[in-house]
Amino acid sequence: MSFGIHPAPAAVIAHLSDTHLLAGGALLADLVDTAAHLRATAQRLRVAAADADVVVVSGDVADRGEPEAYALAREIIEPVAAELGAPIVWAAGNHDERQSMRTSLGLAGAPADPIDATIEVGDLRIVSLDSSLPGWHHGGFDAGQADWLRAALADPPALGTVLVMHHPPLAYRSRLMRLLEFRDEEPLAEVLGDGRVRAILSGHLHVNGSGTFRGIPVVLAGATSYADDLGGPPPAMHGIDATQSFNLVELYPDSMSHTVVPALQHESRETLPAHVVEQVLQLDPAERMERFSRKPD
Ligand SMILES: [Fe+2]
Ligand SMILES: [Fe+2]
Repeated sequence: MSFGIHPAPAAVIAHLSDTHLLAGGALLADLVDTAAHLRATAQRLRVAAADADVVVVSGDVADRGEPEAYALAREIIEPVAAELGAPIVWAAGNHDERQSMRTSLGLAGAPADPIDATIEVGDLRIVSLDSSLPGWHHGGFDAGQADWLRAALADPPALGTVLVMHHPPLAYRSRLMRLLEFRDEEPLAEVLGDGRVRAILSGHLHVNGSGTFRGIPVVLAGATSYADDLGGPPPAMHGIDATQSFNLVELYPDSMSHTVVPALQHESRETLPAHVVEQVLQLDPAERMERFSRKPD
């Protein structure tokens, strides 16, 4: 049922990032229960992303690239994706290890190759570019990947193409994280030059954020593991076990929206009781406008 001027979205992407799992569900830095946080995320995806067509995990799936950590990621995410009827796109981040990730997640390709992939979901194409560089935390890509990407973007379907890459091609607000930025912006711009990509979905910075790359919207999913707190006293970097989130991306033929959803369950209260919502659902459109939009005199 659609209440407003827009119909239901043509495609919905559940976008999560930076799960940073460890083998056996060990605590990250002896503090953060990243496995529990991902389990909570999965539970909330069932509700908030019930209409998702695809689940995108934009990298740093494992904190140390351990096979057991990827197995844990599958154990948590695959059942909910199956319930939603949504395929999973696993993108590689700087904390991931290609061979371990590829083998453990059952991804196609030769062991040491970049984890690049293309999937079509209905009328939408999702292209996942491996922006990790083995042995480094900053990002980039090579000439072979540029050729692959050019071909992957050709002849887009009706809803166009969304590009997934762990390192966002943006200027980062965190001064230190600029050392770990995506460093091949010019070659990327050359490939994307004709505006065929509708959005770039990234992670890496452990914050919600957005920007543009040569006119293309770039949207960051906040991590499900922990967040970077830019409000902490400088010059240290501060991680907080709070404000974890994921994004819902709704695509329409001519527009797109991104919504941030808390990844963990917090204490909440009904701002609109269920019985009132049920009443509103029963009304015809004109009555609904009167009941819900009209301000009292
Ligand atoms: Fe990360
Ligand atoms: Fe990262």
